[in-house]
Amino acid sequence: MLKLLFLFVFIGLVAGEDGLQAWLRYAPLPRGHHRSSLPSRIVALNDSSSSPVYTAGQELQKGILGILGEDLEICDSAPAGNSAILVGTVGQYNKVYQDATLHPDLSEDGFWLSTQGTTVRILGQNERGVLYGAFEYLSMLAQGNFSTVEYPTNPSAPIRWTNEWDNMDGSIERGFAGNSIFFDDGAIVANLTRAAEYARLLASIRVNAVIVNNVNANYTTLQPDNIEGLGRIADVFRPYGVQLGMSLYFASPANITNLTTYDPLDSRVIAFWNDKTDEIYQRIPDMAGYLVKANSEGQPGPIQYNRTLAQGANLFAKALKPHGGILMFRAFVYDQLNESDWKADRAKAAVDYFQPLDGDFDDNVVVQIKYGPIDFQVREPVSPLFANLRNTSTAIELQVTQEYLGQQCHVIYLPPLWKTITNFDLRVDNSTSLVRNIMTGQHFDRPLGGSAGVVNVGQNTTWLGSHLAMSNLYAYGRLAWDWTADPTEILQDWIRLTFGHNQQVIDTITEMSLASWPAYENYSGNLGIQTLTDILYTHFGPNPQSQDNNGWGQWTRADKASIGMDRTVSNGTGYSGQYPPEIASLYEDISTTPDDLLLWFHHVNYTHTLTSGKSVIQHFYDAHYAGALTAHSFVGMWESLKPYMDTERYDDVLFRQKFQAGHALVWRDAITNFYHNLSGIPDEAGRVGHHPWRIEAESMRLSGYEIYAVAPFETASNATAIVTRSNSTTGTASTTIAFDSGVYDLAINYYDMYGGNSTYEVCIGDQVVAKWTGDIVDTGKLGHTPSIYLDGHSATRVTFPDVKIQKGDVLTIKGTPDGIEPAPVDYVALLPRGVVD
Ligand code: GCU
Repeated sequence: MLKLLFLFVFIGLVAGEDGLQAWLRYAPLPRGHHRSSLPSRIVALNDSSSSPVYTAGQELQKGILGILGEDLEICDSAPAGNSAILVGTVGQYNKVYQDATLHPDLSEDGFWLSTQGTTVRILGQNERGVLYGAFEYLSMLAQGNFSTVEYPTNPSAPIRWTNEWDNMDGSIERGFAGNSIFFDDGAIVANLTRAAEYARLLASIRVNAVIVNNVNANYTTLQPDNIEGLGRIADVFRPYGVQLGMSLYFASPANITNLTTYDPLDSRVIAFWNDKTDEIYQRIPDMAGYLVKANSEGQPGPIQYNRTLAQGANLFAKALKPHGGILMFRAFVYDQLNESDWKADRAKAAVDYFQPLDGDFDDNVVVQIKYGPIDFQVREPVSPLFANLRNTSTAIELQVTQEYLGQQCHVIYLPPLWKTITNFDLRVDNSTSLVRNIMTGQHFDRPLGGSAGVVNVGQNTTWLGSHLAMSNLYAYGRLAWDWTADPTEILQDWIRLTFGHNQQVIDTITEMSLASWPAYENYSGNLGIQTLTDILYTHFGPNPQSQDNNGWGQWTRADKASIGMDRTVSNGTGYSGQYPPEIASLYEDISTTPDDLLLWFHHVNYTHTLTSGKSVIQHFYDAHYAGALTAHSFVGMWESLKPYMDTERYDDVLFRQKFQAGHALVWRDAITNFYHNLSGIPDEAGRVGHHPWRIEAESMRLSGYEIYAVAPFETASNATAIVTRSNSTTGTASTTIAFDSGVYDLAINYYDMYGGNSTYEVCIGDQVVAKWTGDIVDTGKLGHTPSIYLDGHSATRVTFPDVKIQKGDVLTIKGTPDGIEPAPVDYVALLPRGVVD
């Protein structure tokens, strides 16, 4: 009965397809897949419920029941050689079976997997490794792989962590999937089911620790009741071999005690951190360590007391040392700068601050370095700091959350971007020095190293707010284990586990995913100019002018004639000189700088000819049109999968693909219009500023609506939109259609602002042909950072296919405002089939 109930519940979960199980759905293997006979039982060599070995046994039972419909019993011993899946550490195994021949070559967290007929052995170097092996075996079964294998596998690095930017109040900085699964209202939530489920997902991709709170930390995390709460999180993580770590607020002593200082060399401050650390380890004996953001973006740090960043880091490292903890210290330290200084350059800051301190950090300090020198942009060169710290352990910081990359509302499969960075050869001492070998500690022979992925999962059942975005989390773990792994193979494993075995599904999602980063780069920021988003507000939609004329140093230096940062030694900021000589000279010379980083390193005229033969400005135009077209093609690609998909995920993804297609046009038009306006150089193909199928809302006959000048101007077609005259009266806008009679796709560009859900209706004559509500941000259908303005973040499109039009028909839009949202409309497009505009 119990088994039946379990089966029922489990099938129920799979049928739900709300994303909660992610790639661990254990969906029944389709008929026709070859199966060999299964072992008859599971033998788990540790039956304590907090042990990952016990978890491995439970997970194997659950997985095999789901995938193959077989309910295997779990026992804690079995005679050798019997038909069984045996899970335990090498030590446990050898104790029980005294098998002197078995000495797999394993390092910490590694495992050995052997499948020989009905005898399967999964042996870990430690208990966590056992669980990793169990998940690997289950992944094989779920993918219909029953082959005979025998191999050891070991991690590329000891640090395979995630960072979660969760605040104590439950919000998440740069999180796009709802509120925190850990915190609410200043405390740790009572129900940690989701935290445990997250640990399960992470264990399956071999992530071994989570920093649970935001780098912009809060001293209240250290209050005794919160330490107890963190202890509860650590308790639910532990059976999955996931350790808890936490971010610290540098000035905590001055907030929590009556000390008036947080000087890292003050003995009372030292005593405070030692005692606090002891108190934490008392509750969480296996705590992974701390993460510290100091002297960065307003955060306090050692520099306030004229102490070095190393002195600041070592304060925590020394407190952690007796407990075996690690101090992750962020290299993201920079100052506000003045753009009128041609030589000022934020990209130089990390090397300027950290290189002189090389050798001063304690052995359990790891400097955590963002992949590029600015901030998770769509294209950046490798951070030169990796080449400049020979005597310091380092780790790379990546973002799984797509802060500058469409906030999970645009599909971007990130591993190709990450691999561009990690496979880069920095040529330290003129010899091969791959970033992946530096950050894992191998190259400079450092004891520690690895990666931190900023993930920011939330309460949304899809974890990241989007089903497709989960390929990035999956791939992050797989790559953190093995940086030589192939992004396409990883992706296809994820597709099979998430969406099943249909070849068309695999091919289509693969094609879409691999096209996604280049497409986004095409319609956001080209040639190394960075993601041209609004850096002062939401980081979501386009706002190229926000990059310049402020102290943040993400400058483009675009003017009427030219664009780009001159980072050469000869004439610019000198940044290129921070690389080892071979790389420095590559970037110093414009003729050897790759096109995709041209504007990162050089300031050129818009008419400068690229190696492709195009001018910079024409490349901008062409790339933006090509990128938006690719985003549009994703809609049709996804639609082709309808027969092979559950409705729940099909509809959810389709809605997002349509949004992305529309928002890609907003991006395309904003960027091309902005530079067209600035440079005055026409598009050779005549597209920019010419939209023959559009009817601008401001050109319609308006009643109850008025014309509104949108800022930034380029985020509205023709710079203007219409808004209702008041927030309580409906407006109408009408036009007599001059296009030939026929069937068109009716697209309406409008603004979906936060703070209201306006309703709209479009009539042709007196027939209603379209109706919708502008509710995507208020109701959380999309999780991107919302905007309360008409701008590039709120600009969106809705499309109604196949609308019959007679020349001379009157088209009327009726907009009813709601809250602060005045039913804003930008334009209507009547698109003949196949036209994208
Ligand atoms: C970016 C991001 C911030 C974050 C910071 C960091 O600037 O926008 O939200 O706090 O990076 O990484 O510390």
